[in-house]
Amino acid sequence: MDVKHVEHDLTTTLLDEEQIQRRLVALAAEIERDYEGKDLLLVGVLKGAVMVMADLSRALNRHVEMDWMAVSSYGSGTTSSGVVRILKDLDTDISRRHVLIAEDIIDTGLTLSWLVANLESRGPASVSICTLLRKPDAQRMSVDVRYVGFDIPNEFVVGYGLDYNGRYRNLRSICTLAPHVYG
Ligand code: IMP
Repeated sequence: MDVKHVEHDLTTTLLDEEQIQRRLVALAAEIERDYEGKDLLLVGVLKGAVMVMADLSRALNRHVEMDWMAVSSYGSGTTSSGVVRILKDLDTDISRRHVLIAEDIIDTGLTLSWLVANLESRGPASVSICTLLRKPDAQRMSVDVRYVGFDIPNEFVVGYGLDYNGRYRNLRSICTLAPHVYG
């Protein structure tokens, strides 16, 4: 969906389709270099990371496997509930595998620190994180984020996989939501 169809719900376009794609291609090149000669399993966190996974994996000019987890740390609002639950676990045994988590956004980092600890307990060769977006609070977290697409301000954003109450995920751009939508 293009911005024009929901213009009145949005305040600004933070990143358009072209900026997102260009950054993902650059990240893919870095990942190719870093994982040369190693097998690579991309783990996507449903549902927000669907677009990142689809575009990052296609930007990688090498074999990768993909698997998915669904965890929940947010209710239906715009603030973190602090609760992480596994809704869907991996199908893959990750022991001795190089795992790269593909994420859409890191806000408090709560979800990811929990996820990394959970995956590390399964005996992988390595666990790293690639996130398209990172908010300021995430920089205080203890987990090392190896690949970051964009550092963005502390505002609620939608589009490119990110939702508000299940909507706006299919927006091509990443936009800030107008206060009247969640106010
Ligand atoms: P964290 O645990 O606070 O890092 O939250 C991570 C999860 O919260 C993300 O995977 C998103 O699902 C959701 N989230 C955080 N910030 C935003 C936002 O600005 N828009 C939409 N979802 C968000």
